Amino acid sequence: MILSIESSCDDSSIALTEIKTAKLLFHSKISQESIHSPYGGVVPEIASRLHAEALPQILTKAKSFLGGSFKNIKAVAVTTQPGLNITLIEGLMMAKALSFFLKIPLISVNHLKGHIYSLFINHPKTSFPLSVLLVSGGHTLIIEAKNASEMSIVAKSMDDSFGESFDKVAKMLSLGYPGGPIVEKYASLCPKNLAFPFPLPLKHSPDLAFSFSGLKNAVRLSILQAQEQGEDVTQESFIAKICAGFQQSACEHLIKNVSKYFQKKQKQNNPVENFCIVGGASANLYLRDKILSLCDSFKCNLLLAPLEFCSDNAAMIGRAALEKYYQKNFADIFTLQAFPKSEENEFQP
Ligand code: KG4
Ligand code: ZN
Repeated sequence: MILSIESSCDDSSIALTEIKTAKLLFHSKISQESIHSPYGGVVPEIASRLHAEALPQILTKAKSFLGGSFKNIKAVAVTTQPGLNITLIEGLMMAKALSFFLKIPLISVNHLKGHIYSLFINHPKTSFPLSVLLVSGGHTLIIEAKNASEMSIVAKSMDDSFGESFDKVAKMLSLGYPGGPIVEKYASLCPKNLAFPFPLPLKHSPDLAFSFSGLKNAVRLSILQAQEQGEDVTQESFIAKICAGFQQSACEHLIKNVSKYFQKKQKQNNPVENFCIVGGASANLYLRDKILSLCDSFKCNLLLAPLEFCSDNAAMIGRAALEKYYQKNFADIFTLQAFPKSEENEFQP
């Protein structure tokens, strides 16, 4: 089996994956959300210290799951990129130490590829070629994945990411962190016709690039204006109105660009057959519903990961590592490093 470690942001997680069947044997995660919540975002220094505490605790749990022995572990995999440098290093150092003392190969995993493999946890087979919408706290990407190693980015955000914009809107309304699930919950309380009418980002652009900072500023200005007019901006109905309008515009922007992408592929006589949404923000049910309708209208198959594996976890890292294990694509413990920004190295734009 493969032992995998994830520490790229604010989740410490370790998993055990069976090599032949891709079965997830063990998975445990300690999330730091409640600690970062008062700051409205992840504080890297705190996150790093918490990983140093949590990872050994989870490793101890994994060891007792294994009956006290690591002898069946054939390789150790770790997220090395992209992410916060000082949190990636916590997982990387643990992986190097395990690789050294257990004399087993070390596998370096790209976190974004990990999110794509969240679709195949517990499945020995994959479904490439696959077009991907990756929406997380750090990224908003359309990726074309020909196979496990040939992946290219076809669209990215010019500024904030989709998930990050939810976090920032939640911060403006003092709702805590992470913003995604909180904003989604408030949005669901608002009747559709009462949602605040925010503009659609890049409405007239023919390109596939995303942008969320203009929408974020529109939200900020609306809250300020309401305050100036003496409205109680802490009232549930006001928060719900803002969250619903913001979520609607942000999702509509994603849907519109994915639709443009589908049309482009159709014109090239290469229609998209398999599409997926992955990443922490792919847990958004409003978004899932809209993407499902879009895929139906383009007769395209939609793949979704189970909700529990949308946010960061080591199970997806272990599943992604299997491909490298089969290819004997191992890393060197003396030279392997963490790369905070990686997509240009790993994906051919
Ligand atoms: O993939 P992930 O766990 O971490 C990164 O790799 O960044 O994604 C976390 C991001 C956060 O920005 C969070 O607010 C967002 O995903 N998110 C959501 C939802 N659940 C999590 N965004 C919108 N709607 C949600 N339900
Ligand atoms: Zn992630």
